[in-house]
Amino acid sequence: MLIKLLRLFPPETAHAITIKLLKSNFNLNRKQPKIYKSLNQTIKGINFKNPVGLAAGFDKNAEVINQMFAYGFGFIEVGTVTPKKQLGNEKPRVFRLLEDDAIINHLGFNNKGSEEILLNLKSFYARKNINEIIGINVGKNKSTQNDIDDYLYGIEKLGFYGDYITINISSPNTPGLRDLQLRGKIERLVKKIQKKQSEIEQLEHKPIFIKISPDLDDEQLRDIALMSLANNVNGLIISNSTIQRPDTLISNFKNEVGGLSGKPIFLNSTILLKKMYSLTNGQITLIGVGGVSSGHECYEKIKAGASLVQLYTALVYKGPKIIDQILKELDELITIDGYKNISEAIGKST
Ligand SMILES: Cc1cc2nc3c(=O)[nH]c(=O)nc-3n(C[C@H](O)[C@H](O)[C@H](O)COP(=O)(O)O)c2cc1C
Repeated sequence: MLIKLLRLFPPETAHAITIKLLKSNFNLNRKQPKIYKSLNQTIKGINFKNPVGLAAGFDKNAEVINQMFAYGFGFIEVGTVTPKKQLGNEKPRVFRLLEDDAIINHLGFNNKGSEEILLNLKSFYARKNINEIIGINVGKNKSTQNDIDDYLYGIEKLGFYGDYITINISSPNTPGLRDLQLRGKIERLVKKIQKKQSEIEQLEHKPIFIKISPDLDDEQLRDIALMSLANNVNGLIISNSTIQRPDTLISNFKNEVGGLSGKPIFLNSTILLKKMYSLTNGQITLIGVGGVSSGHECYEKIKAGASLVQLYTALVYKGPKIIDQILKELDELITIDGYKNISEAIGKST
């Protein structure tokens, strides 16, 4: 009902209303999400009560972490946070492709900046429950002179408050950002991040994941796999939104500029995930993102090699109640396949 009502507003207004409602704890008088023992696993030393997380971009400013946990998410990734506050690109910059269950956005890292977001994280942290796992996704300012310094700044400033940190080098809406994925550049970035980590005791053992684009070709994918193995990268998040436009799209908004997310990217992002799992021999933790809106799709990602899964666009079309349904379906699916725990299914379709 509320989801349909929100659709009467332009997408960004609907999002702003949603955040306001959540902040006022609207609709939070709901039953505790069910806990499934079969979905609990420890990854990189972190205990995840379930593998379904909120992808970056929904709670860019770390304002509604508690409220989103109440819907049953196993983990929540906030951001992307840039060192300085940014307004992002000119509006309109978010488009609903209703007929395609998809979104195109060219927001351009609009966020309140690390200073203000740090305060939000601190207030969450003060009441943080041990099984509320949060990731902090960091990026660079559009006008920065030194890309790498922006990432190092984000890690140093906010890293303590996350259970893990994500390095976002794959958003299509910040000029030059995705070039950081290229051979040489990505390795330089990783080495500098690891050096920074080794200098700060509290960050030394904090998992750092790198979020990559679904638009990488096979050679770039292989480069990243080899680089990840050679440098002991903790994990890869696969994937961000795509600049490609599949032929199947029918919405009038299909040619808007920006990153496409939702149902139409499920297939490609899952193929990429599967390729990366095989290129890294299952030795690197993978997080699958892109077009997940059911337990079945979540399970597909896991069987393709993901230890964890995230979603965003499905919330826009189906609302947060899908989390309960996804968890229930996942539990059923692993039981049908004869597994006791979700971790046994990782990579099983390769
Ligand atoms: C409106 C919108 C804003 C987003 N902002 C970010 C962001 O700030 N940082 C990021 O890493 N990904 C961002 N994403 C990408 C998502 O985290 C996710 O990788 C992508 O949407 C694919 O998942 P989905 O199909 O479940 O939405 C954004 C996606 C959408 C739809």
